[in-house]
Amino acid sequence: MYEQLSHSILNEILAQLKPDIKEQELSYFYTRLGANFYSLFSLFQKLYGQRSDFKLQLLKLVEVMARQYICRSSDFKEKDLAREKDFNWFLHQKWVGMTLYADGFAEDLPDLSKKIDYFSELGVNLVHIMPILECPKNASDGGYAVSNYRKIDEKVGDLKDIQYIVAEMHKRDILLVLDIVVNHTSNEHKWAEKARDGDGNYQNYYYIFENREIPDMFEKTLPEVFPQTAPGNFTYDEKMGKWVMTVFNNYQWDLNYQNPTVFIEMLDILLFWANQGVDILRLDAVAFLWKKIGGSSQNETEAHILLQLFKDCCQITAPSTLFIAEAIVAPVEIVKYFGEDAINAKECEIAYNATLMALLWDAVATKNAKLINQGVKNLPAKLERATWLNYIRCHDDIGLGFTDDDIIQAGYEPRSHRQFLLNYFSGKFENSEARGLLFGQNPKNNDARISGTLTSLIGLEFALEEGNLDKINLNIKHILLLHSIIFSFGGIPLIYYGDEIGTLNDYSFMGNLSKANDNRWAHRPKIDWQKSKLREKKGTIEHDIFTALQRMIRVRKEISAFGDFNNRELINLSNPHFFCFIRIASSPENNVLVIANFDANYQYLNLEEINHYLFQINNYNDIIDLYSQTKPVLFQDKLVLSPFRFYWLKII
Ligand code: GLC
Ligand code: GLC
Repeated sequence: MYEQLSHSILNEILAQLKPDIKEQELSYFYTRLGANFYSLFSLFQKLYGQRSDFKLQLLKLVEVMARQYICRSSDFKEKDLAREKDFNWFLHQKWVGMTLYADGFAEDLPDLSKKIDYFSELGVNLVHIMPILECPKNASDGGYAVSNYRKIDEKVGDLKDIQYIVAEMHKRDILLVLDIVVNHTSNEHKWAEKARDGDGNYQNYYYIFENREIPDMFEKTLPEVFPQTAPGNFTYDEKMGKWVMTVFNNYQWDLNYQNPTVFIEMLDILLFWANQGVDILRLDAVAFLWKKIGGSSQNETEAHILLQLFKDCCQITAPSTLFIAEAIVAPVEIVKYFGEDAINAKECEIAYNATLMALLWDAVATKNAKLINQGVKNLPAKLERATWLNYIRCHDDIGLGFTDDDIIQAGYEPRSHRQFLLNYFSGKFENSEARGLLFGQNPKNNDARISGTLTSLIGLEFALEEGNLDKINLNIKHILLLHSIIFSFGGIPLIYYGDEIGTLNDYSFMGNLSKANDNRWAHRPKIDWQKSKLREKKGTIEHDIFTALQRMIRVRKEISAFGDFNNRELINLSNPHFFCFIRIASSPENNVLVIANFDANYQYLNLEEINHYLFQINNYNDIIDLYSQTKPVLFQDKLVLSPFRFYWLKII
């Protein structure tokens, strides 16, 4: 948009750019800057317009973008142009993701680079390598307490390794996702060290207070993220003699984005990684970016403005780079991280579908789809050009992130239902075979979350100990059922490394001092590649799960209705054990009906209930299950689903 004030400021800024920038050929950069400047200016002004040095800060911002654009390689600039043309590229059903630790999936980055064929073998073409930047040894929060944003942890490798991995992945059309921990740094980051040495400029990078007055005001309403290991949200620093805001662990200092210098520094870091060829940046803990006294300091309007600014700046400099929002918050809040009142994502193009994840676990415990039907019905509509990351497990704990309202609508009482789920997954509930661990228990509000691998939570660890073959097979079906949903729901499915071969909880963290008090390590395994080889041997768990997922991925990639174009309609069936939706294709004969039986017993569906949605067919023999490539089981005009069975149905 053209607007006089912002345009005249832009002209001023361009005139002031240093000669080394001016002499470069930056035509695409200038076009994008012109197109985005009104928005950028307005947002920056909302946050920092009151400052006397506002224009100087804006100049600095433009300089950072220009310099990073100059560093951007011609290959990546070409990628920018190609993706600008094909702007819906990431909504295609061809993308299938996996999250992993470099030193869990492999030994380190060089070793990981030798295992890229594994992704192709499975069909994965989007790889999220968990944080690999330098962190203090025993205070790293699994990589989320960064002490140097431009240096890779020596334990896992160096920049050259990642450049090699990017090149190898790009040859195979595999995308790379890396984390940017935007909300906080380690207390050993050089900014924190300078702050600790008394440097006022750097103390301004964080929320630092002389005494408890303001911290106490904050504490009245701030929740606690790690109530057991890091209670409270402030930490006293002996050397400084002051209090620092530390919402996560006490060694993770929250960055103060009220200071524009912090924003500009972080933008420079984002663009640095975009320039290494990273396709997608996962922005960590974005709900927490802006703090205010008298609330939860989550999902604040200013946090959204910051993300819009990051997006605008990235579109100017490295437009092919997408963002993932890691905002594990209430369903109505999550969708806002795409940006509101828009068609295109204004903030992050991709967001974790934490709501679906939690609802899937509810369906596992209750063996019915009452709450998932309710929750998905109320899942707020998302923007057209934005998509979900659909996942079952990740490196974090499972929070029961659905609303009390939905629980009530599904016919339960919220408090006791949540308690039931915690008891169920921690194996305390009668007959429960889940082997989860309670995480973040908070005696003040009885809250808790759940750790454990998919396999152990489902009950396979228990079944293996019992040596019960029927149960083992049923558990495998259950694991596949959950995957059948994330592969068909609409969005990018994200497999958690190890789940594809049925990896159990790893209890060795208990013997490691730096991990023992954080049971999320139970589900951050070290892959045993000898055991993984069993995926080639028929009759093994590894083989059964791996080959089924391989097939599911292959089939998904062929189904155009699985692309994410807001083309899903939920179908409410009379039998509460079914979760069912239709994926609508551009021509109706290509529609696909997904139906999943969450019960451990046979369930039947009266075909009349889906006839209208599917194809108004007369002859049910014309239906095929795309996954198994067989006709579904029909008996007396009823569709039969065995325990934990799913179908992806289409007319032939
Ligand atoms: C990160 C952490 C390290 C941890 C590892 C787990 O690299 O820095 O402490 O052992 O992740 O894979
Ligand atoms: C994110 C990460 C989590 C980490 C937290 C603090 O939620 O996923 O592992 O503990 O941020 O950085």
